[in-house]
Amino acid sequence: MAILVTGGAGYIGSHTCVELLNAGYEVIIIDNLYNSNIESVNRIREITKKDIKFYPTDLIDRDYLESVFLENKIEAVIHFAGYKAVGESVKLPLDYYHNNVTGTINLCRIMQKYNVKKMVFSSSATVYDVYERGAICEDFPLKAYNPYGRTKLMIEEILRDLYVSDDSWSISLLRYFNPVGAHSSGLIGEDPQGIPNNLLPYISNVAIGKLPELQVFGNDYPTLDGTGVRDYIHVVDLALGHLKAIEKVLSTIGVNAYNLGTGNGYSVLEMIHIFEKVSGKNIAYKIVNRRPGDLAICYADPTKAKAELNWAAIRGIEEMCKDAWQWQLKNPHGYRTLESPKK
Ligand code: NAD
Ligand code: UD1
Repeated sequence: MAILVTGGAGYIGSHTCVELLNAGYEVIIIDNLYNSNIESVNRIREITKKDIKFYPTDLIDRDYLESVFLENKIEAVIHFAGYKAVGESVKLPLDYYHNNVTGTINLCRIMQKYNVKKMVFSSSATVYDVYERGAICEDFPLKAYNPYGRTKLMIEEILRDLYVSDDSWSISLLRYFNPVGAHSSGLIGEDPQGIPNNLLPYISNVAIGKLPELQVFGNDYPTLDGTGVRDYIHVVDLALGHLKAIEKVLSTIGVNAYNLGTGNGYSVLEMIHIFEKVSGKNIAYKIVNRRPGDLAICYADPTKAKAELNWAAIRGIEEMCKDAWQWQLKNPHGYRTLESPKK
């Protein structure tokens, strides 16, 4: 039984491929390596000691994509491929709509043609219209605040419309909270290009001395210490959530959204202190203005995923920071080597 993983060379995709292979699935990756490195695919093979088919293609290239479906017996698709930087999406909205939305439509058309109607889709907590509401449930109102978020919301709606048109589809919309950490081997992890946007990769770059200090975006939020609170989830727990979602789509029909988070929130200052503890490094920081568009608090109610997928995150915040730090130490230049600094 082969699972096609779009964007499987990327951060969450690579961890999910490891868990799929460990669980006995055959895995096929398609990835244009826009935001990843072929070395991550080699590392998946190294960790699992299993083979994996890799196609260096773009979802926009329908003919190539179709050839992958012609060559392989695909049972279901986990669809990670997409652009994901909020700030960039504001500057390049057409690129985001084209890559994320058109890419998904191409994929769905070919899936439909080859009668592969089971999909797990990478959505995001960013689709919620939240403001100081406490734990977020799947039935909260939805709203997008930037082009990236709008692509996620549009794709969720497109997939729901697809099911209305043909009720033999089975689709899980997984709304991730804040994925962090790395595989316990230290062989795969998050490898952002340039200066990281997200908190944990930034902290870890400061810890290793690549960046001088962290800017803490605001300490006047209505939280315990005034800094923003998020629901950080270990990427391996997230990957295991995809396994449960695959089991679900293989055995049922319908469209279902699930929060993948821990249900716990940690502030920026708490994250700094935990990272200092596990790494033994001092994290220099300064408080600056709030980042426009940021929420004070955002954490999941993961009850539905527990009840319907039989999944819950089990790795704690120290393990997340420890694994992120191990990855950073073992791979100071990410997947790049000093001889080949470019991706
Ligand atoms: P990532 O950038 O590491 O992985 C995405 C992969 O998709 C990359 O390897 C990239 O090269 C590939 N890709 C992009 N466009 C493609 C295309 N047109 N054709 C083929 N390959 C393409 O990102 P990630 O952090 O692993 O995120 C995976 C998915 O999860 C994305 O859809 C993202 O929006 C979503 N998500 C991520 C987070 C997060 O914090 N990391 C949070 C919520 C949702
Ligand atoms: C970001 C994305 C969101 C995505 C989510 C999951 C933005 C505006 N939003 O949100 O779409 O779904 O990641 O990965 O990019 N912080 C600092 N200094 C930094 C970086 C972050 O203080 O240098 C703070 C932020 O203000 C926030 C917390 O750390 O309070 C987490 O930030 P980040 O990792 O960017 O995640 P989100 O804000 O949740």
